[in-house]
Amino acid sequence: MICLRAFFILLILSASANICSGLTDQNEVSALKAIYGAVGDVFNRLSNWAGDDPCGSGWTGVICETINGVDHVTELRLLNMNLTGSIAPDVGNLTELVILDFMWNNITGSIPPEIGNLSKLYLLLLNGNKLTGQLPPELGNLSQLNRFQIDQNNISGPIPSTFQFLNNANHFHMNNNSLNGSIPPELGRLENLIHLLLDNNDLSGQLPPELSNISTLLIMQLDNNHFNGSIPSNYSQLKNLTKLSLRNCNLTGIIPDVSGMSNLAYLDLSSNQLTGQLPASISQTITTLDLAYNQLDGDIPDALYKLRGLELLLLRNNLLDGTFNGSIMEHDSFVNASSVLILDIQNNNITGYESGALLNLPNVTLKLFGNPVCNDSSPGGNVCTEYNGSILNLSLPNTATSPSLQCSSELTCDPSRNFELVYGLSLLYGQCHCAYPLNIGYRLKSPGFAIFPPYEDGFIVYLSSGLNLSVYQVNVSSYNWEPGPRLNMNINLFPKNTTNEFTEAEVDNLFNTFSTWSIPDNDTFGPYEVLFLNRDFPYNGTLSSGTTSSLSGGAIAGIIISVIIFTAVLVAVIMVLIAKRQQRYTRARRHYERIKVAGVKDFTYEEMAKATNNFDKSTEVGQGGYGKVYRGTLADGTVVAIKRAQEGSLQGTREFCNEIELLSRVHHRNLVSLIGFCDDEDEQMLVYEYMENGTVRDHLNSNSKQPLNFATRIQIALGSARGIHYLHTEANPPIYHRDIKASNILLDSYRRAKVADFGLSRLAPVAELEGDTGGDVSTVVKGTPGYLDPEYFYTHKLSDKSDVYSFGVVLLELITGMQAITKGKNLVREVNLAYEAGMLLSIVDHRMGPYPAECLRPLISMAISCCQDDTNSRPSMSEVVRELEAIWSLIPDKNTMVSLETSISTDSGVNYSKDLVYNNLLVSSDVSGRALMTNSIPEVSPR
Ligand SMILES: *[C@@H]1O[C@H](CO)[C@@H](O)[C@H](O)[C@H]1NC(C)=O
Ligand SMILES: *[C@@H]1O[C@H](CO)[C@@H](O)[C@H](O)[C@H]1NC(C)=O
Ligand SMILES: *[C@@H]1O[C@H](CO)[C@@H](O)[C@H](O)[C@H]1NC(C)=O
Ligand SMILES: *[C@@H]1O[C@H](CO)[C@@H](O)[C@H](O)[C@H]1NC(C)=O
Ligand SMILES: *[C@@H]1O[C@H](CO)[C@@H](O)[C@H](O)[C@H]1NC(C)=O
Repeated sequence: MICLRAFFILLILSASANICSGLTDQNEVSALKAIYGAVGDVFNRLSNWAGDDPCGSGWTGVICETINGVDHVTELRLLNMNLTGSIAPDVGNLTELVILDFMWNNITGSIPPEIGNLSKLYLLLLNGNKLTGQLPPELGNLSQLNRFQIDQNNISGPIPSTFQFLNNANHFHMNNNSLNGSIPPELGRLENLIHLLLDNNDLSGQLPPELSNISTLLIMQLDNNHFNGSIPSNYSQLKNLTKLSLRNCNLTGIIPDVSGMSNLAYLDLSSNQLTGQLPASISQTITTLDLAYNQLDGDIPDALYKLRGLELLLLRNNLLDGTFNGSIMEHDSFVNASSVLILDIQNNNITGYESGALLNLPNVTLKLFGNPVCNDSSPGGNVCTEYNGSILNLSLPNTATSPSLQCSSELTCDPSRNFELVYGLSLLYGQCHCAYPLNIGYRLKSPGFAIFPPYEDGFIVYLSSGLNLSVYQVNVSSYNWEPGPRLNMNINLFPKNTTNEFTEAEVDNLFNTFSTWSIPDNDTFGPYEVLFLNRDFPYNGTLSSGTTSSLSGGAIAGIIISVIIFTAVLVAVIMVLIAKRQQRYTRARRHYERIKVAGVKDFTYEEMAKATNNFDKSTEVGQGGYGKVYRGTLADGTVVAIKRAQEGSLQGTREFCNEIELLSRVHHRNLVSLIGFCDDEDEQMLVYEYMENGTVRDHLNSNSKQPLNFATRIQIALGSARGIHYLHTEANPPIYHRDIKASNILLDSYRRAKVADFGLSRLAPVAELEGDTGGDVSTVVKGTPGYLDPEYFYTHKLSDKSDVYSFGVVLLELITGMQAITKGKNLVREVNLAYEAGMLLSIVDHRMGPYPAECLRPLISMAISCCQDDTNSRPSMSEVVRELEAIWSLIPDKNTMVSLETSISTDSGVNYSKDLVYNNLLVSSDVSGRALMTNSIPEVSPR
């Protein structure tokens, strides 16, 4: 569908740009020539600005639109062209101009007031030049203006009060200039302003209380000015603020109430002369709180110890007293290997210190140097050593942005072609191919965080979706913090895995997306800017290519190709429609031969409907790739789980019958057993034993009321490993599960683990992978992103080791409590990062309570070895079972276990050997699943 739309757009674009062209408006031609005359073009970047038809002959950076048969200049994109000189006032004659972009040149002189005539102007982008002079009040006439960027120039004088009329403006970026005078109170009338960046100027006077009327405001950044007086108390009304930064502003008075700012993530009021106490209540969304270098006193309020997402707390050089109470600290995010917590409370009057469990974590740093508590009895550790550098350099996890995962060694890229290896990250973990990256300088102007690693994956997800790319196509190759603080990144974009390089059109498209700010705003990442886009090799087009309106040979070919593609798409759509019809037709003609499978009950549709109260919504307990799952009660009172195939999952009676025969032969105490089926009235259903205690995933989630303890987790791992081992070695034919995940491992009323959904991968069209995997891959590879064996993904060769990989991910879930993929973070990657950083303990799910240390290490190593990229380095399922048994035997006190252990020991008078447990004949001779359940064989066989 998206493709289709793209083709339509392509068609329309090429049509409007190429077919309906006239000549360029002559006033605009003169204006462009005047502009050309005023700039210095030392590098001849504008060498094709010749002739009298800029639109027709495609002048660099000039983009036109045909209005009433005449071509008008709508965009002037001259960013990054090493231009000098000034902006000619004649720019005001380009009356149809929507985008005026001179970013990152060396333009001098002042902003011509004539720009105020451009009534359609939407983006005014003059940042990164050497502009001087004052802001012309005429700019207040730009009623359509959305974005005003003049940052990083030398503009002086006041902010004109006429700017209050820039009613449609979302973005005011005027930082890093020499603006002076006070902020006009009239700016409070800007009812659409989102980002107000005025930092690093010479602004003075009082902060106008009127700014509190801008209810849309998300970021207010005014650092490094010298205001008088205090922060207006009514700024507490700015409820949607995510970032408030007033560092080094000569502010006095107290901190206003910020408790109502429910999305506040970043609060920096440091280096002022603020007095009074610390805020007693702050939103849990806060990650960065910098109140250092003020005169704040009193003790640290309890609420500050309980900011569960906090990353940076800087309180140094104040007058705080009382006791630092580490014992009441609470925090959420240490399940994430790259998260840190840094607390700098140096140079205060703290007199007491209480330690706490959180403070012992390796990624938590506390600095108390310069407090009385360090004079008397040192709290020990490094707490009392002085730290004077940038606190951010402290104990940051070693997360070089290069991925920890390498491509398989056979894959080397041809160096003569300047290829680079593309590492597939995150969702499609492990994907590699050779390609030319497109290199981009990208800067976050006002990010809502101070520590990047925990946000990196989220950033990649954000950027790739904004650019309509897959996650693996985006890579942050390096980054550094600049004053502001701003985050400067070097980003490589990679073409799709089927190609080596982007096409010219794709590059144009990406470039357009960047420079029109079409990537949606994001509260966390804030405003961005593109510093450069390196198209030199092999992307050797000009930096900003304009659409031409001549009917060149290429354009004609383009139109023809568009038409052909359009036709092809139409044909394809029609064919799909026809195919769907035929499918429906064959379904209607399905005839009902009855299936007979020994030991498995054949239910009628009526029985199923009765069991589920007519498939009432209240009986729904789940939804899988195959269809919905219901909790049903059969006529004899047995509770069962009924999986009802949805449209699209139905199959021929013969195949369905084969599946059931296969499933009916599979019996193991750690596999959910099939009780019956229903193939009636055009419906197919499978009836399984009901698993009272839901999925393992549910128990691992942070909102689970009864977290699983360590022993139970090992027992679940061992049980499910045995179930899978049985499928691999005892089932005939062997079954590869293909979709092992924590939500496919269920717990019965004794919390005994049973693997579900085996064989279903053959029954059901498992959800296709996310992201554009290109071509036939997604139609063949089945599984769940995050659990998918990378080798299988590439080669499509399924083996027992693919299940081992997925099982390894389940083990990691049991250890960390994290999900296989959260917010773009891949669990395997996170654990590997933590492993490399030597911070394994930081990722262990502390909700599982105490555990024997000697059990944890072998468990983690085994999980990691299961998740090796290389199939041969992974253990087999029988090795996994053996290892888990060994770990189990190391647990000294199994009394901490839940009911299951006791329930087993009661009927374990007989010493079943492991062989017996796995003996297919013994178990499957008792064909009824229910009988099997009651026939308890000890879970842990004596060794
Ligand atoms: C732009 O318009 C002004 C006023 O209409 C005119 O004086 C000036 O000559 C024009 N500039 C060019 C280059 O035509
Ligand atoms: C041209 O501009 C680029 C940035 O756009 C800069 O890196 C380069 O140094 C400039 N070249 C010269 C000679 O000024
Ligand atoms: C601007 O000029 C300076 C030298 O004054 C040079 O170093 C810099 O690269 C130039 N920037 C651009 C974008 O051309
Ligand atoms: C504030 O944020 C909320 C939720 O994010 C949104 O619904 C509301 O419209 C915002 N208010 C304003 C004035 O933008
Ligand atoms: C700082 O603020 C005080 C009072 O609020 C004022 O007297 C002083 O002039 C300000 N300093 C500067 C450098 O603006």
